[in-house]
Amino acid sequence: MSSVTATEEAVTTATAHAQKYTRNNPYQSTVTVNVQITAEGSEKETRHIEMALEPGMHYTPGDAVGIIPENREPEVAAVLKALNYTGDERVLDHYKVEISLHEALRTRLAIGKLTRSAVNQYGKLLAATPDAVPEGLKQFLGPDNKARAEEYCWGREFLDLVHDFPSIISTPQQLFTVLARLTPRMYSIASSQAMHPDSVHTTVRVIRYDSHGRERQGLASGHLGERAPVGGTMPIFLHANNMFRLPEDTTAPIIMVGPGTGIAPFRSFLEERQATGQKGDNWLFFGDQRAKLDYLYQDQLEAMHKDGVLTHLDTAFSRDQPQKIYVQDRLQEKSAELFKWLERGAYFYVCGDATRMAKDVETALLDVIAKGSNGTLEHASEYLETMKKQKRYQRDVY
Ligand SMILES: Cc1cc2nc3c(=O)[nH]c(=O)nc-3n(C[C@H](O)[C@H](O)[C@H](O)COP(=O)(O)OP(=O)(O)OC[C@H]3O[C@@H](n4cnc5c(N)ncnc54)[C@H](O)[C@@H]3O)c2cc1C
Ligand SMILES: NC(=O)c1ccc[n+]([C@@H]2O[C@H](COP(=O)([O-])OP(=O)(O)OC[C@H]3O[C@@H](n4cnc5c(N)ncnc54)[C@H](OP(=O)(O)O)[C@@H]3O)[C@@H](O)[C@H]2O)c1
Repeated sequence: MSSVTATEEAVTTATAHAQKYTRNNPYQSTVTVNVQITAEGSEKETRHIEMALEPGMHYTPGDAVGIIPENREPEVAAVLKALNYTGDERVLDHYKVEISLHEALRTRLAIGKLTRSAVNQYGKLLAATPDAVPEGLKQFLGPDNKARAEEYCWGREFLDLVHDFPSIISTPQQLFTVLARLTPRMYSIASSQAMHPDSVHTTVRVIRYDSHGRERQGLASGHLGERAPVGGTMPIFLHANNMFRLPEDTTAPIIMVGPGTGIAPFRSFLEERQATGQKGDNWLFFGDQRAKLDYLYQDQLEAMHKDGVLTHLDTAFSRDQPQKIYVQDRLQEKSAELFKWLERGAYFYVCGDATRMAKDVETALLDVIAKGSNGTLEHASEYLETMKKQKRYQRDVY
């Protein structure tokens, strides 16, 4: 009889897979579902995407999936045209493997949103002959011109730089000096393998905007939104995040704050708790612009609420009334009950927008603690510090 148990074997296989598929050696996954989950008329295009996994590939709720995107064909063609190349020219990629320039622009180089580093490197190509650097370009070069260069980069892509300052690239290989490497994008996993053993789900907001006279889209979200049809393949890898985990104690209560695509890991948490029969109470705060258009996973969440998987479900639809209502307003309204949950040892999770929402939610949480404990904000900060040490305050914000 083997001394290796089935569980140990599964863990070993999972580890082997975690190492097998990486950003440099992604798994060619098949897209099995790709649907818009915001309704027509919404200001946002948010999609639910499911991708198949190879047997043995394993993730834990809280993890992310890495997507390796490709540049759009019309963008590649436009850059080639602006540089006066055919695309058949040969270049060496980052591993010194010879490929065509077309392939390099499609899969290796970041021709999307322009960076200050790219502008500086572009200027440096003419450094040997400073008089040749156009005056317009000089004003963006070097550390003294950081702010001006950043303003120039905002909303522009490499193509805009080439149009504004043409004829600077003299050999195709120089593009590897100017442009950054195309990097994968992370998406919080929105599913539990206890419920969906063979797939990984994500919730993606597709970035689209007009800038400097052209229609633009986010590299990876655009790829997932427009060029990832059901049946097509997508190179992916799983990315562990041990800083965002359900409590080990399956009876511990959890409070989840996840507006917009921030809902993703909480769908994963809830599915996991539902599928494995965990007894801990679950409280979700979800928010988005309008209930009719932007209530992501409404049916599933309401069914979970009805079945008792979700003990409480609070929503904040910011644009359904004249004044904005955000998730932190709901936290304040439920302050007394929330504090009771915290005193019962509840874990508090936040996912979504890092720049504004996560900060405002933390302020509201401190207020809830101060009110509940009849204490000062200083005391509330200490309380939150203790929660952090106990891993009871976890954030996954971007
Ligand atoms: C751990 C983690 C988890 C994440 N989870 C999710 C998730 O679950 N769902 C999700 O949708 N995203 C998630 N993200 C964000 C995601 O990784 C990408 O950053 C996002 O999809 C944008 O990538 P992109 O390639 O589509 O856009 P990019 O090509 O990177 O372009 C985005 C950039 O476009 C520019 N831009 C955007 N709008 C405008 C505008 N109106 N005008 C001018 N410029 C503009 C900005 O510079 C912005 O940074 C997560 C990020 C991390 C780090
Ligand atoms: N890095 C990227 O390029 C990228 C790509 C995709 C998503 N994201 C980020 O991912 C997050 C989720 O995006 P999303 O479009 O799904 O949702 P979102 O922009 O976070 O919006 C969700 C809800 O949060 C509200 N909101 C706005 N400001 C808030 C605040 N200070 N506190 C609390 N709620 C606030 C919004 O209201 P109003 O809109 O009515 O104000 C909306 O009702 C955001 O950070 C978004 O910027 C980033």
